[in-house]
Amino acid sequence: MKIGICCDHAGVEYKTKLISYLLGKGYEVINFGTDSSESMDYPDVAHPLAEAVEKGEVDLGIAFCGTGNGMAMSLNHHPGIRAGLAWNTEIGKLVKEHNNANILVMPARFISYNMVTSIVRAWLNTEFAGGRHQRRIDKIPVK
Ligand code: RB5
Repeated sequence: MKIGICCDHAGVEYKTKLISYLLGKGYEVINFGTDSSESMDYPDVAHPLAEAVEKGEVDLGIAFCGTGNGMAMSLNHHPGIRAGLAWNTEIGKLVKEHNNANILVMPARFISYNMVTSIVRAWLNTEFAGGRHQRRIDKIPVK
């Protein structure tokens, strides 16, 4: 499985560690930056990641910013994206099971790195439940 990953300056440390972690687990990882702790604007990396997921160039995406909100807001402007914010393991599971999030967003300034790996494991290892949840996600796009 190919995973695209991005962050702003607030998420560089966790993103760098998570890339090694995912590679170690056998995932292919495409890094969309940033790789610097210098202040930058999260939409500049969020949009390229979203486009890669929409085009099928990567299977899933992971994004970090300080609160997670800027990334989630930017990513969710793309019609093919369901970016879900998770800050604990249970939400990491539910954001796949109920919302079928194709991009997982985490708030780097508010969770530990141990929590990051726990959330990522939960999200990757959970299947979308479908059924009533499919009906609900079908109603998300503005017609
Ligand atoms: C950067 O200081 C911060 O605003 C950003 O990482 C994020 O939290 C925005 O939503």
